[in-house]
Amino acid sequence: MSDRYLAFANSTAGRRLVGALGLPAPLRLERWLAGRSRPVDGALLIGGAGSLGAAVLPFANKLTDQLFAAAEGQLELPRWTAEHGPKLKALVFDASGLSRFEQLIELRNFFQPAFKGLAQCPRVVILGRAPESLKDPVAASVQRSLEGFSRSLGKEIRRGGNVQLIYVGKGAENQLEGALRFFLSPKSAYVSGQVLRLSACPVEVKDWTRPLAGKKALVTGASRGIGAAIAETLARDGAEVVLLDVPPAKDALNALAARLGGRGVALDICASDAAAQLIEALPDGIDIVVHNAGITRDKTLAKMSDAFWNSVIDVNLNAPQVLTQALLDAGTLRDNGRVVLIASISGIAGNLGQTNYATSKAGVIGLAQAWAPALGKRGITINAVAPGFIETQMTAAIPLTIREAGRRMNSMGQGGLPQDVAEAVAWFAQPSSGALTAQVLRVCGQSLLGA
Ligand SMILES: NC(=O)c1ccc[n+]([C@@H]2O[C@H](COP(=O)([O-])OP(=O)(O)OC[C@H]3O[C@@H](n4cnc5c(N)ncnc54)[C@H](O)[C@@H]3O)[C@@H](O)[C@H]2O)c1
Repeated sequence: MSDRYLAFANSTAGRRLVGALGLPAPLRLERWLAGRSRPVDGALLIGGAGSLGAAVLPFANKLTDQLFAAAEGQLELPRWTAEHGPKLKALVFDASGLSRFEQLIELRNFFQPAFKGLAQCPRVVILGRAPESLKDPVAASVQRSLEGFSRSLGKEIRRGGNVQLIYVGKGAENQLEGALRFFLSPKSAYVSGQVLRLSACPVEVKDWTRPLAGKKALVTGASRGIGAAIAETLARDGAEVVLLDVPPAKDALNALAARLGGRGVALDICASDAAAQLIEALPDGIDIVVHNAGITRDKTLAKMSDAFWNSVIDVNLNAPQVLTQALLDAGTLRDNGRVVLIASISGIAGNLGQTNYATSKAGVIGLAQAWAPALGKRGITINAVAPGFIETQMTAAIPLTIREAGRRMNSMGQGGLPQDVAEAVAWFAQPSSGALTAQVLRVCGQSLLGA
């Protein structure tokens, strides 16, 4: 489904008219293009006075060759000023050293000048320490306050930019590279206002250009939409892909599988023998499982039939649980595996006419959180990606006015693309994402829903 207003607002004539009428002008977001290698295409400014800035330095020159610091002599980098520095493509602010309320002004002191020198589609990451890891109540409160700051900054940055907060656990400093490669690059185009926690884990990165080489990945609901984009992205990153979808989608499924050098499995995940069939189809095991297949059957609760309720719970919630359990019991899911569940912001904010869907998607988040400790013992992580409004056949079926509202009610004034969800999944799927489990990453352009 194409967004005609976005295309119009970015055309020469449209830009003039939109400006003259004072209409919102969503910017065409930069996305990751095949063949690119550097995460940051331009200047990266590092600021702040904690210990995490120094942890970024050893790999910062792999992110970009234009590195600057906010203060004279800091990290031995050239100093950036709004008057003389280049436009900034990325900013990393280390807030881990802030422990008193009066130090919070350092956020303003760093970001106010930096925001005068932003390039298009800039990326901001603030680094802190998880409040729950700190004994001093003031220090914990200061670190917690970063959430409000980063989310507000996400609403002010405009120009297609985004802002995230990463709480880095003790011993997880060496996990920052994978996270910054995602958040400072166009791979995070439609992710903003997010808060993630990195925990310590062994680093395992051989080749950042093909991080999934040697891994086998299963994607359900892969014949079209978000699932097809996930399969393409995992294949791009080097994984051997197994694509699953319902038997009527067999032709599209097999065509895509052939193009990606993978294999199609035509199977209804709710069939009574689905688990047995799936295990049989994966005799050599699997490293990455993406539970993406999902359906909507929208009605207000007053008009909700048994069939609408049950089908949504079965496909979206029961099937991922049954299949995950079966893959584990059969030993099909390998140690150090990655499970990613596709939730929805409906499961976080709730949505009119979607009691069944929101229940299922909140349950999916519950699955990630409930499974994480047991899976962690085998080095397996499980996370949820919660998309907002993504341009697919599912959202094309929404009535026009509701669709337009869903598309625009976020910091970026537009819907996301399947690729945006796929990039988040691919990041969670990487061996280097062992530092992340039981987390929920929204890919929603910082939607106002449930913000
Ligand atoms: N599009 C959005 O804006 C959006 C927002 C939030 C969450 N999501 C979630 O993202 C996922 C993908 O959504 P989409 O927009 O690409 O939807 P889509 O309808 O385009 O694709 C869903 C795929 O799942 C498959 N599927 C459905 N039931 C199945 C079953 N029983 N067995 C096997 N495959 C089955 C379908 O055949 C289809 O190919 C879903 O879980 C959806 O709930 C989408």
